[in-house]
Amino acid sequence: ELEKTLALLKPDSVRAGKAQEIMQLIELNGFTIIAKQKMQLTRARAEEFYAEHYGKEFFPKLVHFMTSGPIWALVLAKPGAILAWRALMGPTNVFKARAEQPKCLRALYGTDGTQNATHGSDSPASAAREIKFFFPSLVPDPVSDPG
Ligand code: CMP
Repeated sequence: ELEKTLALLKPDSVRAGKAQEIMQLIELNGFTIIAKQKMQLTRARAEEFYAEHYGKEFFPKLVHFMTSGPIWALVLAKPGAILAWRALMGPTNVFKARAEQPKCLRALYGTDGTQNATHGSDSPASAAREIKFFFPSLVPDPVSDPG
């Protein structure tokens, strides 16, 4: 079943000049990029996007990183896109990614425990929320969108 997910190319990978290369890999792996926008998050927007992590020890560092430079927000479509994109990114922690899945995007393009190159929605509910967060004008799909 065709599914959509929200992907971010984070400030470390964009700053390194890898955004176009990562988008090519995304398409080579069978995803269609149906929307994309380069932007820089304000502190308020970053805090809202990552609200579920508010209060965790890494939250200030995460917000500082995510506002440190431009990002790309992408909507990806493919059957099983949510899990497929998480598999292509690999483990959240870059050191774990390098050890366990050296060809994954976070192993190839990530920097450290916070700066991990990419983000992906972790469930259909968060995909719906996150796509709406970055692309409010995209019409929700009544079949796959639980909201
Ligand atoms: P992401 O998949 O975007 O979701 C939350 C982000 O917080 C995560 O990627 C990392 O960038 C960051 N993060 C998660 N856990 C930690 C941690 N233990 N220490 C530092 N940063 C973290």
